[in-house]
Amino acid sequence: MVASKSVPYATSKLRKRVRGLWRHFILREPPLARDGDWSEYYDTAERYAASQWLIIEPYLSASPKPDLSIVLDFACGRGRMAERFANISGKLICADMSLDAIEACRQRFAKNSNVACLVNGDESIPVPSGSITFLYSWDAMVHFSSSELEEYFVEFKRVLKADGMALIHHSNYAALSSVARPWPENPGSRAYVSAEDVRRIGEKCGLSIVKQQVIDWSLANLDCITVLKNR
Ligand SMILES: C[S@@+](CC[C@H](N)C(=O)[O-])C[C@H]1O[C@@H](n2cnc3c(N)ncnc32)[C@H](O)[C@@H]1O
Repeated sequence: MVASKSVPYATSKLRKRVRGLWRHFILREPPLARDGDWSEYYDTAERYAASQWLIIEPYLSASPKPDLSIVLDFACGRGRMAERFANISGKLICADMSLDAIEACRQRFAKNSNVACLVNGDESIPVPSGSITFLYSWDAMVHFSSSELEEYFVEFKRVLKADGMALIHHSNYAALSSVARPWPENPGSRAYVSAEDVRRIGEKCGLSIVKQQVIDWSLANLDCITVLKNR
């Protein structure tokens, strides 16, 4: 039992490690957030869930009000924000590229019959087209470059139903600095992306911008929340 469970994790960790080394030494590119080891983060971030929920909650009652019938948490980690959404969503789908994070979510939500947990792939989220009424991503896409954001915005456009909405927490660091460095070297490990970049990417992918709110994180105006609609 233990052995059969540990094999996929070991393989997945090894795959991440090899991809990281390949990017570093061969491609000479910065690492991707999807190849990181977030174990320490998961433990410490849990204690900030309640205060961060206070940032998200007003968006759920503001106009236009999102339809929480079928909700997707993209890059959910171990489900600290999903725990809040599980109680107010018709159905909640938690997706992450990390097998370990999804296994933790499966255990966390074992008693919630309305929650499903899925491992997503590069550029793909395994849910049917037009099936999601609302999706959100919290404290994960802040590390995504413009090209990674676009990669998944194309997929968001596909999975959202017509008029479905998305709330995306992302970096605004490029609006604060003229030095484009790899994300692990920036404050808060933020990607070199601005609110303006995300507006442009959303529109390019067929998602209209409902609103953008620049927020403070460890630095004033470091991040931004963008709300989009599938037009
Ligand atoms: C900093 S953690 C945030 C987790 C969670 N959203 C939270 O607030 O606790 C970043 C998460 O993003 C996930 N991630 C990074 N790139 C991803 C990708 N391309 N697709 C899905 N998940 C990804 C990682 O596996 C990790 O669980």
